[in-house]
Amino acid sequence: MIQIAPSMLAADFLHLERDVEMVNENADLFHLDIMDGVFVPNLSYGFPVVEAIAKMARKPLDTHLMIVEPEKYVERFVKAGSAMVSFHLDATKDPDAVLAKIRECGAKAGLVINPDLPVESLFPHLKNCDFVMLMSVFAGFGGQKFIEETYSRVRTLKAEIERQGLDIPIEVDGGVSAANAGALIDAGAEILVAGSAVFRAEDPSEVISAMRLA
Ligand code: DX5
Ligand code: ZN
Repeated sequence: MIQIAPSMLAADFLHLERDVEMVNENADLFHLDIMDGVFVPNLSYGFPVVEAIAKMARKPLDTHLMIVEPEKYVERFVKAGSAMVSFHLDATKDPDAVLAKIRECGAKAGLVINPDLPVESLFPHLKNCDFVMLMSVFAGFGGQKFIEETYSRVRTLKAEIERQGLDIPIEVDGGVSAANAGALIDAGAEILVAGSAVFRAEDPSEVISAMRLA
């Protein structure tokens, strides 16, 4: 089953209630981008916004941590309402310990890599993941151009997940739209994050259905 996760970074924060309701009605997950200005050269939002969204959300919160030492904050993000928490492989010394900690807190644990890390770097950790995420842009900003090499990276990762006899979905994040959703799904992606494509559209619900049917 394909899941669409609108990135709330592209939502209209002056009409957050309206945009949360749009996700409740049309999409599958809330993708929440947490940036610390250290792991990535940008800041986004933190606990007050996550908690506010959690109050109204009827779909699970998928929190993407772009922060150093994610182990310090995973518990708080789960307490704030995250059902899924992912962090970057190179943001911590012991990724397997962080994955275990997320699971202990009661959320699904995911590992993420930027486009310049080999997909193979995820392989030893797959058995400890509930999902994995490939960035199709460099983490840090919404509205960037999709990197085409992502298709072959998804295929390689999918083949390895199957080779290891695992059943974990691949999420793709960055520059995803109705134009590339079909090819990503064909390659093996099951969760598609989309910020600008959804929230900059005149009719976000139409874009979400188009991505689902792509
Ligand atoms: C980028 C974030 C993405 C971003 C996606 O660092 O992780 O989730 O918000 O936005 P678009 O779809 O506009 O690339
Ligand atoms: Zn993200």
